[in-house]
Amino acid sequence: MTTPLIPVPRVAIIVVAAGSGVRLGADAPKAFVGIDAHTVLRHALEGVFAGPAAQVVIVAPTERTGDALTEAHEAAGRRRDLVTVVAGGATRQESVAAGLSAVWPDVEFVLVHDAARALTPASVFTRVVEALEAGQDAVLPVLPVIDTIKRVSGDAVVEPVDRAELAAAQTPQGFRRRMLDHAYASAAADHTDDAALVQAAGGHIATVRGDERAFKITTAADLERARLLLAPAAPAAALPRVGVGTDVHAFGGEGTLWLAGLEWPGEQALHGHSDGDAVAHAIVDAVLAAAGLGDIGTHFGTDRPEFAGAHAPAFLAHTRTLVEAAGFAIGNVSVQVQANRPRFASRRGEAETVLSAALGAPVAVSATTTDGLGFTGTGEGVAAYAVALVVPR
Ligand code: CTP
Ligand code: MG
Repeated sequence: MTTPLIPVPRVAIIVVAAGSGVRLGADAPKAFVGIDAHTVLRHALEGVFAGPAAQVVIVAPTERTGDALTEAHEAAGRRRDLVTVVAGGATRQESVAAGLSAVWPDVEFVLVHDAARALTPASVFTRVVEALEAGQDAVLPVLPVIDTIKRVSGDAVVEPVDRAELAAAQTPQGFRRRMLDHAYASAAADHTDDAALVQAAGGHIATVRGDERAFKITTAADLERARLLLAPAAPAAALPRVGVGTDVHAFGGEGTLWLAGLEWPGEQALHGHSDGDAVAHAIVDAVLAAAGLGDIGTHFGTDRPEFAGAHAPAFLAHTRTLVEAAGFAIGNVSVQVQANRPRFASRRGEAETVLSAALGAPVAVSATTTDGLGFTGTGEGVAAYAVALVVPR
């Protein structure tokens, strides 16, 4: 027996992991089967070492004691001096007895825990230890029974059983050390848990609240349940994103007016790099902003001479390429133009068709005047306001 360098704790936790796991039917003994990247034993030890300071005695299959020690040292961190590994026996009870013989002399309380209850949280260990420290001799974590229970004989129901009188027993089960030693020394029969053995020896067992996560991995379905509980939560569905864009151009350009992707013969042209199409430029800004790709200046600046005389379809098609390359689909765009002229009423549908085709998404166009107010009201220029929605793919 090693002598620890740190003060001897009052508590020892025996983790029984020596079973073969017949009902699970895996290739390895149950405690050494992987749940995720880690084994059943390793997960069980995470809960153990996160709980109250204690000597930890791991009872492993004889041929696995080395593996158990490796796992324990990985899980123990700064508590590695508190770890002991011993070989188990043919039954759970024999395995617990083997663990008990390795408990340090000064330990007052012993908890016995099934490694197979791999996801038991530290809080259960704490509750059991607190109940022992408060004076209980033996403490059993339990959960209420949820199912309606029947007593049966063969395939016939004999009678209903009042489930208020029942509880499902879990581990870790905690005992005053002398009481557990005595119960094991005088054990006359094999019991499936330690509380039953101690009760058979005349002890009083108190209960504390167990935990749903302390279920025992017995079958393949239990292992699957543990895997699901440990699986990282699916990332939240990516939300759609909106962007806003505006543009203003003054009248007084060369040639004919280009606005909303249409040529307007007889109307005064707008100033501007390219054709001064404020509607198209507002749309570009809105879509780029929705995708977080900067603004029109980032992608169509004066250093891009190919866009100097370009019309709306060239701008919108390139915007679509940029946004799709960044992993978004364009949902839709709504754009409003404020201008006295041109009159949009008769060509609104035409504008929507051209803009939608170039962008690859529905573009709704509306137009309004501003009651003679502002530069649009005095006819100095036009303003356009766009909102775009993009969806991460
Ligand atoms: N156990 C043990 N030594 C044994 C039998 C069981 O240490 N000889 C341990 C198991 O490793 C497990 C706990 O006791 O952590 C509860 O036992 P159980 O769930 O029955 O595990 P197995 O006996 O391994 O499974 P099976 O009964 O399906 O073979
Ligand atoms: Mg068993």
